[in-house]
Amino acid sequence: MPEEGHRSKKERRLRRLRSSEDLRALVRESRVHPSSLVAPIFVKEGTGIVEPIDAMPGVNRYSVDRLPEQVERLAKAGVRSILLFGLPLLKDELGSSGYSPEGVIPTAIREIKKHRPGTVVMADVCLCEYTSHGHCGVVRGGTVDNDRTLPLLGRAAVEYARAGADVVAPSAMMDGQVRAIRTQLEDAGLDDRIVMSYSAKYASSFYGPFREAADSKPAFGDRRAYQMDPSNSREALREIEQDIEEGADIVMVKPALAYLDVISRARARFDVPIAAYSVSGEYSMVRAAALNGWLDEAGVAYEILTAIKRAGADIIITYYAEQVADWLSQRR
Ligand code: PBG
Repeated sequence: MPEEGHRSKKERRLRRLRSSEDLRALVRESRVHPSSLVAPIFVKEGTGIVEPIDAMPGVNRYSVDRLPEQVERLAKAGVRSILLFGLPLLKDELGSSGYSPEGVIPTAIREIKKHRPGTVVMADVCLCEYTSHGHCGVVRGGTVDNDRTLPLLGRAAVEYARAGADVVAPSAMMDGQVRAIRTQLEDAGLDDRIVMSYSAKYASSFYGPFREAADSKPAFGDRRAYQMDPSNSREALREIEQDIEEGADIVMVKPALAYLDVISRARARFDVPIAAYSVSGEYSMVRAAALNGWLDEAGVAYEILTAIKRAGADIIITYYAEQVADWLSQRR
């Protein structure tokens, strides 16, 4: 009998654990669960608005009065966390509608908390939706002035937290933004609030549909002087490390699908919760192919989210949150 006998060959059959759905479920390493999904919501100033976004079929902008029903629908599907983006009526050089207590985001937060207090309300903290030039901070001499932007991000975070946000999520990619926000929150007696930092946020073409949705395309230049170069991953670890030192509770890698290696490296190095943002372009690519009948939408969306989990993310921000939660409940 040769060494490669009948016995040793059969010992190596990896298919044994794949033979039924119950067995596959038993040995499954990563799972997508609605409780770890966050649904982004675009909130537009006004009333009675449910406005489709051309570049993101199936995603709408809502006015504050239409939010409670959306939040309720998401909660029914099992998605209890939302991330708010604001579309103000007025924009100016300094993005002042972004940190006004009567702005669209504080108003939205109060409305949601009144209606469904248990919802985990996260608010994006950035100026690009509120500035006339579309950059993420104060522009001086043709560039974004880091240190003049910090106090304004801090003010926005305080206003959102005062309105009831559980989580503030700085996405401007200014150095020191987490410390500035943490300090201003503490000074306002709001030290119980969570800071989820968009730590490793890349200068990505995948944000294209979002900029249509949020009307936040820069009027000149691009964001490469503050967002990260897509070529780098060691630098992402430095960004994350710095944010943790500055007081971030949750760190984020964004986009997700093209940056799974970054998520995986971050997972190996840090023990804080890691969020991954599956951005607008990731949604629109799949959606467009699905609408053409070229891809099985549920299968592909679920597979992508599973891959993001497998790479090491705890939290996934995705425009597919509600659908995936629905598909998961149908599978059960
Ligand atoms: C704000 C912000 C952006 C996104 C999230 N927060 C746009 C940008 O940086 O241009 C993108 C989200 C998405 O594409 O889904 N700075």
